[in-house]
Amino acid sequence: MLKLHALSALLTVISAASAHDIRGAHEHFAHRRQALASTSGVSSITSTSTAAAGTTSSSLAASTTISTSVTTSAATSAASVAPADAGLSASGVPALAQITSGMPTGTTLPVSSTYAAGASPSYYAGAPALPTPFVVNVADWPKQDVVPPTDSDEVLQWMTELDGYDIPDFAPTVDGTCAGDPAAALDAANRGWWTCGGYSRDTDIVACPDKMTWGVSFDDGPGPYISISRLWKLLNFLSEKDIYATFFVVGSRVIQYPMVLVEEYMSGHELSVHTWSHHALTSLTNEQIVAELGWTRKAIKAVTGVTPTTMRAPFGDIDDRVRAICNAMGLTPIIWTTGPGGPFDTNDWRVAAGTVTGVQQYATFENILGNASVMDTGFIVLQHDLYEITVDLAIGYTLNTALSHNPPFTLEPIGQCMKIPTANMYLESDTNQTFVAEHTSHNSTNSSSNASTASNTPSGAGHSLTLSTLTAVFAIGLAVASAFF
Ligand SMILES: *[C@@H]1O[C@H](CO)[C@@H](O)[C@H](O)[C@H]1NC(C)=O
Ligand SMILES: *[C@@H]1O[C@H](CO)[C@@H](O)[C@H](O)[C@H]1NC(C)=O
Ligand SMILES: *[C@@H]1O[C@H](CO)[C@@H](O)[C@H](O)[C@H]1NC(C)=O
Ligand SMILES: *[C@@H]1O[C@H](CO)[C@@H](O)[C@H](O)[C@H]1NC(C)=O
Ligand SMILES: *[C@@H]1O[C@H](CO)[C@@H](O)[C@H](O)[C@H]1NC(C)=O
Repeated sequence: MLKLHALSALLTVISAASAHDIRGAHEHFAHRRQALASTSGVSSITSTSTAAAGTTSSSLAASTTISTSVTTSAATSAASVAPADAGLSASGVPALAQITSGMPTGTTLPVSSTYAAGASPSYYAGAPALPTPFVVNVADWPKQDVVPPTDSDEVLQWMTELDGYDIPDFAPTVDGTCAGDPAAALDAANRGWWTCGGYSRDTDIVACPDKMTWGVSFDDGPGPYISISRLWKLLNFLSEKDIYATFFVVGSRVIQYPMVLVEEYMSGHELSVHTWSHHALTSLTNEQIVAELGWTRKAIKAVTGVTPTTMRAPFGDIDDRVRAICNAMGLTPIIWTTGPGGPFDTNDWRVAAGTVTGVQQYATFENILGNASVMDTGFIVLQHDLYEITVDLAIGYTLNTALSHNPPFTLEPIGQCMKIPTANMYLESDTNQTFVAEHTSHNSTNSSSNASTASNTPSGAGHSLTLSTLTAVFAIGLAVASAFF
C-alpha cells in the first residue's frame, strides 16, 4: 500500500503540474502495474539477468520464473471484506465514499480453470479447440511492460503483413499528446489523430448503432481482481447479471494471468488486443507498433487458441498511420464514444490513481448516461478491470445504475452490439466479410509503399509556428488532455 500511496501522491503532483502531464500520469500509472500487483501479494515476473537489448526476441533471461498463481495477501483476509463488515454493501463492495486510492485491498486467490485442452466455448460455433493450459516460457516472450525489440524474427515476419498496404509516413508523435507535439498537433486533422482533436475514421468502431445500447468493455487486464474465487468480483457479477463484455487485454498481463483470460473467453466474453506494453501508439515507429500488436495477438492465441480481429489503442491514441498498421494486421480499431459532453471516459482509473474520488467518478458516469440518453445511437464507455478499485466501481455502482435506469440500457459486448458474428471476432473463424479493412484490397504499388521506411521528417516541419498558434495549440491540448484522460 505504501507504493500505492506514493504513486497517488506522485500522480497528484504530476497532474497539477500541467494538463499535458495528465496523459503522462496515466502512462506512468500503466507502467507501475507490476509494482502495484506486487504490493497486493500478487506474484510477478522477475528477471535475474538481462540480455543485451534488441539482440534477442526476449530480453528476459531463461532462468526467470513466472508464477501465474495469485497468493493470498497477508495484510487482509476474506473475513475483512465479508458483507457483514461496516461500510460494505450487500455485494461486498465498499460504500462509494470509501472507494478511494489507498483503500484496503481484498484477498486475491488463484483462478483454477475448469476448462480442459480441447474444450471449446458453447456460445461460439466453429471455435478452435482450447490449447493445453498455458505455461509461460519467458525465453519465448519480450520483457513485460516495455516496447518489445523490433529486430526479432517474429517482428520481422509480422512486418511483411504491411506489404502492399499504404501506410502514411507520418513521423511518430513525441508522446501521443497535442501539447507534447505542437507540430504534429497542427496536422491532427490530416492525421486523423483521435487523442488530438477527436478525429476518427469510418474504419473505427466508436459507438454501438442501437440507441440505449451500451457496448460494455474493460481495459488493461486480465487482472487478479476478477477472480472467480471472490464471489463478488467481476466475472461472477457479470455472470449473475447475465452481462457480457469485451476485454481489451494487455499482452504483458495475458502471460501473467493466462487462466483469467481463459475464464473470460470460455464464459462468453469477447477478447480484443490492447497492445503489449500500453504505450501511446502514435509515438512509436511502425516496427514498434507491429511488435506491440503482434506479441499481444500471439499471447492471446497461445492461451486461448484464438486471434482477435479487433484492437483498442491505449489512451485511444490512434492516427491514420497507426490505423493503417492495425488494419494491415487484421485488427479493426475500437475507440470509446464521444458524446455531446465529451468522451465517455468513466474516470475510474483516476480514482485508482488518487486524482478523483469515487463519488466524483460516479457523477461523471451519471453524466455519461445522461448524454447517452439523448444520443441517437448507442455508445461505448472506457472502464478498467485491472484494479480492485475500478472493479468495485463497476460492479458496485456503474453497471447496476445502467441496469436499473428507466428506461433500462441494454448491455452487450461491443462485437455483439455491432452485430458482428462471434466467429468474425477471431481470425481463425473470420469469414473476412465484416470489417472495412478486409474490403480494402492491397495496394498494388507495393514497392513504393514500403512500410518499414517511414519518414522521420516531422510533418509539421514546413509550418512556421507563431507564438499565437503555439498558444492556441497548447490551449486546445490542455482542453483535450483534460477531457480525454
Ligand atoms: C453531458 O455531459 C456533460 C459533461 O459531463 C454534462 O455537463 C451534461 O450535463 C451531460 N448531459 C446530460 C443530458 O446529462
Ligand atoms: C480470412 O483471411 C485470413 C487472412 O488472410 C485467412 O487466413 C483466412 O483463411 C480467411 N478466411 C476465410 C474464411 O476466407
Ligand atoms: C508485395 O511485396 C511482397 C514482398 O515483397 C510480395 O510477397 C507480395 O507478393 C507483393 N504484393 C503485391 C500485391 O505485389
Ligand atoms: C498506393 O500507394 C501509393 C504510394 O504510397 C499511393 O500513391 C497510392 O495512392 C496508393 N493507392 C491506393 C489505391 O491506395
Ligand atoms: C523495405 O525497405 C527496406 C529498407 O530499404 C528493405 O530492406 C526491404 O527489403 C524493403 N522491403 C520490401 C518488401 O520492399
